[in-house]
Amino acid sequence: MGFLQIQLMNLLAILVIIASSKSSLSATPPNFPIALKPNCVDHCGNISIPYPFGTTKECYQSPDFLVTCDQTFNQSKLFLWNSNIEITDISLDGQLRVLQFIASDCYDRNGIRVLPRNDSRVKMSRFLTVNNTANKFTVIGNNALGLIHGQWLGRNYTRSCFATCYSKDDLTEGSCAGLGCCQTSIPEQVSEVNITLDSFQNFSNVWLFKQCNYAFLVEESAFRFSPENLTNLRYVTKLPMVVDWAIGNGTCEEARMNASSYACKNVNSKCYKPGNGYGYRCSCSEGYQGNPYLIDGCQDVNECEDLHLNNCTDIKHCENTKGSFQCACPKGYHGDGRKGGRGCIRGESLAFKPVAGISSGIIVLLVVACWLHLGLKRRRQTKMRQMFFLQNGGMLLQEKISRRERSSNTTTIFSELELQNATNNFDNNMIIGKGGFGIVYKGFLPDNRIVAIKKSKEVDPNQIEQFINEVIVVSQINHRNVVKLLGCCLETQVPLLVYDFINNGTLFEHIHNKAKACFLPWETRLKIAAETANVLALHSAASTPIIHRDVKSANILLDHTLTAKVSDFGASRLVPLDQTQMCTLVHGTLGYLDPEYMLTNQLTEKSDVYSFGVVVVELLTGKEVVSFNRPEKERGLANLFLSAMKEDRLFEILEENVMREGNKKQLIKVAMVAKSCLHVKGDDRPSMKKVAMELQGLMLGEKHPWVQRGHDEEVKGFLLEGEFSGAINVGEDNSTSIGFDSAKDHVILSMGGGR
Ligand SMILES: *[C@@H]1O[C@H](CO)[C@@H](O)[C@H](O)[C@H]1NC(C)=O
Ligand SMILES: *[C@@H]1O[C@H](CO)[C@@H](O)[C@H](O)[C@H]1NC(C)=O
Ligand SMILES: *[C@@H]1O[C@H](CO)[C@@H](O)[C@H](O)[C@H]1NC(C)=O
Ligand SMILES: *[C@@H]1O[C@H](CO)[C@@H](O)[C@H](O)[C@H]1NC(C)=O
Ligand SMILES: *[C@@H]1O[C@H](CO)[C@@H](O)[C@H](O)[C@H]1NC(C)=O
Ligand SMILES: *[C@@H]1O[C@H](CO)[C@@H](O)[C@H](O)[C@H]1NC(C)=O
Ligand SMILES: *[C@@H]1O[C@H](CO)[C@@H](O)[C@H](O)[C@H]1NC(C)=O
Ligand SMILES: *[C@@H]1O[C@H](CO)[C@@H](O)[C@H](O)[C@H]1NC(C)=O
Ligand SMILES: *[C@@H]1O[C@H](CO)[C@@H](O)[C@H](O)[C@H]1NC(C)=O
Ligand SMILES: *[C@@H]1O[C@H](CO)[C@@H](O)[C@H](O)[C@H]1NC(C)=O
Ligand SMILES: *[C@@H]1O[C@H](CO)[C@@H](O)[C@H](O)[C@H]1NC(C)=O
Repeated sequence: MGFLQIQLMNLLAILVIIASSKSSLSATPPNFPIALKPNCVDHCGNISIPYPFGTTKECYQSPDFLVTCDQTFNQSKLFLWNSNIEITDISLDGQLRVLQFIASDCYDRNGIRVLPRNDSRVKMSRFLTVNNTANKFTVIGNNALGLIHGQWLGRNYTRSCFATCYSKDDLTEGSCAGLGCCQTSIPEQVSEVNITLDSFQNFSNVWLFKQCNYAFLVEESAFRFSPENLTNLRYVTKLPMVVDWAIGNGTCEEARMNASSYACKNVNSKCYKPGNGYGYRCSCSEGYQGNPYLIDGCQDVNECEDLHLNNCTDIKHCENTKGSFQCACPKGYHGDGRKGGRGCIRGESLAFKPVAGISSGIIVLLVVACWLHLGLKRRRQTKMRQMFFLQNGGMLLQEKISRRERSSNTTTIFSELELQNATNNFDNNMIIGKGGFGIVYKGFLPDNRIVAIKKSKEVDPNQIEQFINEVIVVSQINHRNVVKLLGCCLETQVPLLVYDFINNGTLFEHIHNKAKACFLPWETRLKIAAETANVLALHSAASTPIIHRDVKSANILLDHTLTAKVSDFGASRLVPLDQTQMCTLVHGTLGYLDPEYMLTNQLTEKSDVYSFGVVVVELLTGKEVVSFNRPEKERGLANLFLSAMKEDRLFEILEENVMREGNKKQLIKVAMVAKSCLHVKGDDRPSMKKVAMELQGLMLGEKHPWVQRGHDEEVKGFLLEGEFSGAINVGEDNSTSIGFDSAKDHVILSMGGGR
């Protein structure tokens, strides 16, 4: 009987330990073996070199983990492989701290480069990934466009950050919001990064003082921006960053198949999938510590030696066991002997009571506890949903919707549960797009409708009202060339937007995927351009103009008839004419961004015209909007196109199918339209309405006196009456700028985007 009870107690003890488990491995100094063999070098200066890392073939796990210790004079430096990547710390939890060269680019007062540009390369094999939580991509300077390129889930990855300043007073200690310093985080799974600096245009006219621009990945806690860094960084060549390492490139299950190469050698170690990176890692099991990659690496922790590791009321009655510990009570006492447990109570042990009673009692207790826990959790979830709903302006939206109940297109407010069901609980397999704007899931509603659900970046609480207004405006737009916003869900921390699902991919894919591009004849390209222009002309018709802000081929979706559906009007905000002030970060997407914005910091209706011009050039030439494989002057497609036009080389850069199928005169006219859209000065660009008319005319084969500017200015209404009346009558709140900032992310290229 007594034996049985002890067994039950042990069970409980284990349950308690599991429930309150807390890793304390990092706190204790290493008193366990770290290197594979006694004759392997396990230190370089004061940096320890634990296996799987090693300095020779006999000492490392695989060539990935080769390190070299460079001892010159009395200084020791540790390098990865034979590279110049300097390691300052190796952690068995899967991190390396390395010192990395910074990219720099120096100009003089006239905007002339004074030294060759220095790019920074972190040449890393697949087993090293940039730690996404510890590092920030940082750009310092004036008109500095820092670019980070890398590999991300098997694709090319590019992100940029733009820092500028107009006077030294703009600079604030510790602030990296775009003035003099710009910081952005990078996603998980980025490896093999290259960092370069660029300025997209020649900005010499806004140069204020002589300095250099810098770009680097840096451990966030190791760098705090100071205005002096604009000048004093030139004496710094390396800064620390954190990279995550892992073993191999397969999962734990795959790795276990090959016992000879499986790295979790110790019986008390287990395999886990790293939060960031490819491959797997090992760790010592609960209650053990040490190096899980060595056969004798994981050693039992003696919990009884450390007050923080055991909960025994009296440490004298603590007994260490392999991987765990037991507490007992002195003679004449009974209980579990644990602090916070039942402790030790004077008197007879309960062992004399019927065991069945106790065990069933315990079971009942556990069941009740579980039930209570679940109930509480559910209540808390409901509460959270309500809180988010209020916080996200749910009441405001409900009120506005009920006010316009009569109109036929009402915005639907979806519940979180509905969307969870629609997406199989936001299953990764349902993801159809991912990028700086957030994540897009495909979902199936109970009424068999297919939707795209967009989980975006957070909404600033101060801008909830604008966000709500925008949801209403955009969901009122019912146009065959706009992706319809069906509604939203406000019960989550970040509001979810629900759109119609468009099934044929983005214009970007159709232009740049070779296999698809040949099914996109010139006639269709022109039709798509005209349709897009019509939709964008929307802004000039609305009493409160809507600037799309992120016109690009990845935001133009196509349905099965190749009809254009402009998406992401969610990124546009209502902007009254006099209030276009915005912060300094780049909001549009690189290559499509209005050059005037870089100087004036203002996005206007003419910014959309510029971006649209780039899309037309993309349609004409089939070339990438930004390509770092082209010479520096022609990286931006707009520049390439304009110089070709200037030199009368238009036909040389056109896409071959376009060149073959297109009517030469018509092609030239469309190119002229694009050229006029790409004027550096916004005022010189035609209005979107005019562009739309012109393209429509060209499509129908009509002749329009395009070239004579200034003429024809008073074009009326055009396609806008009726269709957009929903949008036109909104703006009643006089709402000002900024609602839903889906474009706050800097710049993402080559990620497919869209849905
Ligand atoms: C190694 O020593 C240097 C200076 O003596 C110190 O700054 C550094 O933090 C030490 N590194 C480790 C890993 O202890
Ligand atoms: C290295 O040794 C030289 C003389 O041997 C000494 O002057 C110098 O301070 C030492 N440097 C360090 C970092 O200990
Ligand atoms: C920028 O333009 C100015 C004049 O417009 C010119 O003097 C300067 O050389 C240009 N700078 C670069 C880097 O091209
Ligand atoms: C460029 O970086 C290298 C290291 O990669 C460094 O040796 C060199 O001094 C740097 N050049 C300039 C101009 O900063
Ligand atoms: C980084 O730069 C090197 C050298 O130019 C190049 O070989 C490599 O492909 C680049 N990597 C990426 C991910 O762009
Ligand atoms: C990725 O970039 C490299 C050059 O950096 C280029 O050669 C390659 O074609 C790109 N791959 C894709 C899929 O865009
Ligand atoms: C930035 O400037 C501050 C103030 O001069 C300086 O303390 C700091 O070391 C600089 N940061 C770097 C990385 O050089
Ligand atoms: C994964 O590892 C295997 C063998 O270690 C190798 O053949 C394969 O190319 C690797 N795959 C990738 C994507 O690196
Ligand atoms: C198992 O791993 C060893 C060492 O890496 C390798 O030589 C061997 O080919 C692998 N066996 C299989 C079946 O993959
Ligand atoms: C990033 O590094 C920190 C330590 O600096 C570590 O705690 C964290 O787990 C790492 N992140 C990932 C995703 O591995
Ligand atoms: C066990 O001890 C830890 C550390 O002292 C403490 O955080 C935890 O709450 C304790 N658990 C119980 C059940 O007493």
